[in-house]
Amino acid sequence: MSEDRYLTFALGKGRLANKTMDLFEKVGITCEEMKDKDSRKLIFVNEELKLKFFLAKGPDVPTYVEYGAADIGVVGKDTIMEENRRIYEVLDLKYGKCRMCVCGPESAEELLRHHEMIRVASKYPNIAKDYFYNKKHQTVDIIKLNGSVELGPIVKLADVIVDIVETGSTLKENGLKVLEEICPLSARMIVNQVSMQMEPERIKKLIQDLRSHL
Ligand code: PRP
Repeated sequence: MSEDRYLTFALGKGRLANKTMDLFEKVGITCEEMKDKDSRKLIFVNEELKLKFFLAKGPDVPTYVEYGAADIGVVGKDTIMEENRRIYEVLDLKYGKCRMCVCGPESAEELLRHHEMIRVASKYPNIAKDYFYNKKHQTVDIIKLNGSVELGPIVKLADVIVDIVETGSTLKENGLKVLEEICPLSARMIVNQVSMQMEPERIKKLIQDLRSHL
């Protein structure tokens, strides 16, 4: 391990990043600069520990890690599955728990049961494709949306959606329900494949320390 090399972390912006920094603090990984919420800085440094942090849009985190712009990333399992990047997924951080589901109105249950040709709206077209084509062997038409996916069945753009369900309240308030569960999700730590070989002790120690606090 070279002591003077910075270890760079890419964190998915928002709630996940705050939870991640709370957890990191427990194992002595801190960044005072990041606590200033008014700061417009994009990259934060802890000179003493030789650490750098930056916040990125969730779907970009695996990209930064694959290309080595960040050694380590923290992002949801949904994003890892959707982006399908060449990275190591090393740790389930157990927060940000939710489920990837097929949802829709009750009337869509029949369409799913009979493997009808249906329209599926999702922010996660790759996950939707994998689920319907490879697991269910059902031919469907997938429509990519960028948010508020629940609108899809309501305005008759799609029969069902593939989306994240956390509390279920968005579905309930819009007359939709979970029809099939695809997989459970949570925040994960990912590592660049070369960084893992270059800094094995430093990264493995971090994983062990974090694991003992989960
Ligand atoms: C996510 C997801 C659902 C909602 C689920 O959306 O896409 O819409 O949260 O949460 P719930 O089960 O607790 O109601 P997000 O808030 O990320 O916004 P988006 O719809 O713009 O993607």
